[in-house]
Amino acid sequence: MSIDPIERHLFLEGIFLRFGHDFRLYAEASLNRRLNSLLTRFQTDSLLKLLQRILETPALFRDVLPFLTINTSEFFRDPTFFRALRENVVPVLKTYSKFTIWVAGCSTGEEVLSLAILLKEENLLKRAIIHATDINAQAIKRASEGIYELSTMQTYNRNYTSAGGTKNPSDYYTAEYGLARFDPALLENVVFSEHNLATDAAFVEAHLILCRNVLIYFNRDLQDRVFDLFTSSLAYKGFLGIGSKESMRFSPSATHYETIDQDLKIYALRSDSATVRNQINRGVQP
Ligand SMILES: C[S@@+](CC[C@H](N)C(=O)[O-])C[C@H]1O[C@@H](n2cnc3c(N)ncnc32)[C@H](O)[C@@H]1O
Repeated sequence: MSIDPIERHLFLEGIFLRFGHDFRLYAEASLNRRLNSLLTRFQTDSLLKLLQRILETPALFRDVLPFLTINTSEFFRDPTFFRALRENVVPVLKTYSKFTIWVAGCSTGEEVLSLAILLKEENLLKRAIIHATDINAQAIKRASEGIYELSTMQTYNRNYTSAGGTKNPSDYYTAEYGLARFDPALLENVVFSEHNLATDAAFVEAHLILCRNVLIYFNRDLQDRVFDLFTSSLAYKGFLGIGSKESMRFSPSATHYETIDQDLKIYALRSDSATVRNQINRGVQP
């Protein structure tokens, strides 16, 4: 079913005004697909009627939100990305006695656990504070539990090895009743919280930001906002990793970064960009 642009506009405006979740600048084609699934789930053909129901019964929004966000994730997703982190970023992190990482759009936690395992193998986990954020509270709750279907461990095992893992992948979890329970010590230094990249401000100074497979759902304006947010959240010469299908190339922020790996989308804040970061933090247009 085709989504009427006026209904979509009013629906997204209503959701934003009532719940503060801003989907108005999400990329149109994929958003339309998700709105279609939402209409099917709520057995209606009208976004306006659905909006009215949600406004009358705000608790319904909890069931609506997962339809508006895509939460698919995978352990060591794009294993070569994690290999590149080991090769290009880990040596720099090793020079710090403490460092901060922000995983933005962490979904159900596979990416955070992959990173924690990598840091543990590099003897860096205890030096790290990892902020893992997402817009979706249900996904964050699952992420903080570190428990997954045992069936997903096949991909984990395969990707772990391709990503340069040095141990037996099953060393990190115990299997029981069809579930894989990851060692809670891996998540000891992880702070999970809700954060909306479309509306919320910078809250951290990070040496590494991972935001992978999130920007792809945003339109150009929202992507630019988020790149600005990252520029103002990165420490001196901090690293940024985005998804393989995402690009910074056309964003005005690109000038503030040097490319560490073009294919794997790893960037580092240029050393002369500290001034820009301060300007952004003060709300001055660079
Ligand atoms: C496809 S998942 C990617 C998960 C993980 N980064 C990975 O690469 O496997 C996209 C995540 O972005 C989150 N997301 C979408 N819009 C967001 C926003 N405005 N602010 C924060 N997170 C958002 C979704 O809830 C979802 O968990």
